[in-house]
Amino acid sequence: MPYNAVTYRSGQFTAELSLKLLPAELQFRLLSESLIVHAYICESELRLGVQVCEILSVAPFVSSPEEVVRKMLDMAQLRKGDVLFDLGCGDGRIVIMAAKDYSAKAFGVEIREDLVATARERVKSLELEREAQIIQADFFEIDLSRASVVTLYLTTSGNERLKPKLEKELRPYSRVVSHDFSITGWKPIEVSEEPHGHTIYLYRIGTH
Ligand SMILES: C[S@@+](CC[C@H](N)C(=O)[O-])C[C@H]1O[C@@H](n2cnc3c(N)ncnc32)[C@H](O)[C@@H]1O
Repeated sequence: MPYNAVTYRSGQFTAELSLKLLPAELQFRLLSESLIVHAYICESELRLGVQVCEILSVAPFVSSPEEVVRKMLDMAQLRKGDVLFDLGCGDGRIVIMAAKDYSAKAFGVEIREDLVATARERVKSLELEREAQIIQADFFEIDLSRASVVTLYLTTSGNERLKPKLEKELRPYSRVVSHDFSITGWKPIEVSEEPHGHTIYLYRIGTH
C-alpha cells in the first residue's frame, strides 16, 4: 500500500480515509462523529462520491412528534412574514405545519433523496407549493441569511458543526429552535420539557 491515510475534503466536511489491508476497501472515519462507514471502491469515482454523500449526514432520520413540532413553532412565535428553514427536514412535517398553520414561508433542506420525494409529495398533496419548498442539498451548503427562524432536530455534534454557520449567516433576533439537542456554548432563552422525555431549546441570535 502506498499510504495508510489520506484526507478527503468537501465543503465544510473533512473525513479521514484509512486504507485497510483488504483490497478495494476503504474505511472512512468521520473526525467529528467517530463513525466508521465502509465504502467499496471499484472502477468509478462516482461510486465513492455516493458513499461520501451519505457520510455528509449528521443525523439519522427520526421524526419529531406532531405535538413537539407545534410546541417548537409556538416557542419561536412563528407568524406570517417569517421565513423558516428546517435543516434536515425529513418527511417535511415542520415545513408543512409552518406553512399551513402559521402562514410562514417555509423551506426544508434534506440530503436524502427518498425523504425529499416524500416531503415534496406531501407538500403537493396539500397544495402548499407556494408557501413550502423542499430543497435537496447538504444544509452546510445553503445560504441561511433569509431565515428568521431555523428549526433543528439533529445531534449535539451536528449542532456543534452548524454553530459557526448559524452565527455567521443569521441576522440578529432570528430564532433557532432545537429539538432534544442543545447548542453547546449558547444560552437558551427558553427550555421546555415536554411529555415523553422531549426537550425543546429556544435561542435568539444576539442574546445567545
Ligand atoms: C432527526 S431527522 C429530523 C427530521 C425533521 N426535521 C423532524 O424534526 O421531524 C434529521 C434529518 O436530517 C437529515 N440530514 C442530516 N444531515 C444532513 C445534511 N448535512 N444536510 C441535509 N439534511 C441532513 C437526515 O437525513 C434526517 O432526515
